[in-house]
Amino acid sequence: MMKFFKKAAVVTLSVAMVTTLFAGCSSKKKDDKTWVIGTNAEFAPFEYVSKKDAVINDYAGIDIEIIKKIAEDNGKKIKINNMEFDSLIVALKNKQVDGVIAGMTVTDERKEEVDFSEPYYVAKQVMIVKEDNTDIKTAKDMEKKTIAVIQGFTGEVAVKELGYKYEAFKKGTEAIQELKNGKCDVVVIDSATANQYVKDNKGLKIVEDDEAFASEEYAIAVQKGDKKTLEKINASIKKFKEDGTIDTISAKYASSSDSDSDTEEK
Ligand code: ARG
Repeated sequence: MMKFFKKAAVVTLSVAMVTTLFAGCSSKKKDDKTWVIGTNAEFAPFEYVSKKDAVINDYAGIDIEIIKKIAEDNGKKIKINNMEFDSLIVALKNKQVDGVIAGMTVTDERKEEVDFSEPYYVAKQVMIVKEDNTDIKTAKDMEKKTIAVIQGFTGEVAVKELGYKYEAFKKGTEAIQELKNGKCDVVVIDSATANQYVKDNKGLKIVEDDEAFASEEYAIAVQKGDKKTLEKINASIKKFKEDGTIDTISAKYASSSDSDSDTEEK
């Protein structure tokens, strides 16, 4: 008796699973009006959660505005799938998302797994230290210091390449907290996000070293070989670079929390 129920349960479960599988397939094929876009919304000013600034659902930021424009340009809707940064490339490879916009730097390693659009933003790594710090003036000065990076970010790769020891945190906010608590001396992270942290947290400053840190380009990633989506995205990026849309969006976020740096505008 028990055995029969077990078997029946297994059969029912399998049928349910197969049905879900097919349902998944067909609904994906049917709805080519929607792009499912992966991001990690813990990277202001590019993507963050905010009811106040909301652009798509509760997501805001330069990337969210850019992808919204690109979607509109192609008659698509966007569904944002917020996940850990480290999961984004996996999600693309598993076809759980159609694209990724996440302040993601184009690297040769990543290019082996996904295809990148034309770049839409240029960034670099910088160092965040406490305002009264006087010993870190160049990247070399980090050698004997306690360094924090964010796991899987290009900042981690950069510090690794310099050959220094570091601790990797899951989130930028954790690394910044560590710095504020005096548990580490320096956080290495992308420039615009560093500016945002310094704006939002008292007592921090940025140290740059353009010789140690090369410039990086952010691009949208798509599934490897997905020429159709890539061509659409590239055409829109080209258009929005030329007509100033991307500059306008970036400028809006760069100044949005500055107190009165815009007073001269007419
Ligand atoms: N530009 C860096 C990279 O590609 C950091 C990007 C982090 N983005 C994010 N949405 N958390 O690794």
